[in-house]
Amino acid sequence: MEALQNIKGRRSIRQYKDTPVTAEQITQIVEAAKFAPTWKNSQTVRYHAVLSKALKDQIAAEGTLNFSKNGNNIRSAAALVVLTTVDGIAGYEPDGTPTTTKGSHWQSFDAGIACQTFCLAAHDMGLGTLIMGIFDEPKIKVLLHLPEGESVSALIAVGYADIAPEAPKRKETDALLEIIE
Ligand SMILES: Cc1cc2nc3c(=O)[nH]c(=O)nc-3n(C[C@H](O)[C@H](O)[C@H](O)COP(=O)(O)O)c2cc1C
Repeated sequence: MEALQNIKGRRSIRQYKDTPVTAEQITQIVEAAKFAPTWKNSQTVRYHAVLSKALKDQIAAEGTLNFSKNGNNIRSAAALVVLTTVDGIAGYEPDGTPTTTKGSHWQSFDAGIACQTFCLAAHDMGLGTLIMGIFDEPKIKVLLHLPEGESVSALIAVGYADIAPEAPKRKETDALLEIIE
């Protein structure tokens, strides 16, 4: 798939087919996502892929801050990827002091780039995704037995799309872009 076509054609998918997604497919997506750039190539992003329906349903029921739409999104998708980042590395010196005034901003920045790279790779493989920011981090840490020192950056639903939504309207490029010559 052409890169620009991939970027413009990716959509947030909130309704999926029952078709399963395999561990091999998720591995292939992460093989691509790991090429996302990171702070000093520190590569602190981790992907916890939940294929177990029972655990996925438990996250849907207990890990979405009662935002029922995300519960439905998670139940509908064949897989749920919990994208985490190791704390205190991206944006920090080896002794733990922040390198810039922006503190942990760079940890989130790396997570965002990786998240979109993951979604574009999935799209290229014919899989739909949905990034979710509304989740109960402490609950998800417990349900997944996440290691100390990892923060949950986003949830990503993954599956075969059962809908083909129109792109939500974008602002005019002029409103976003200033050319300085
Ligand atoms: C950081 C972030 C958090 C989001 N959280 C949610 C969410 O909790 N639930 C949801 O349904 N969509 C969520 N979305 C999806 C956005 O609503 C969606 O990307 C936006 O409406 C544009 O649609 P598109 O992705 O199809 O282009 C999130 C997207 C991002 C980038």
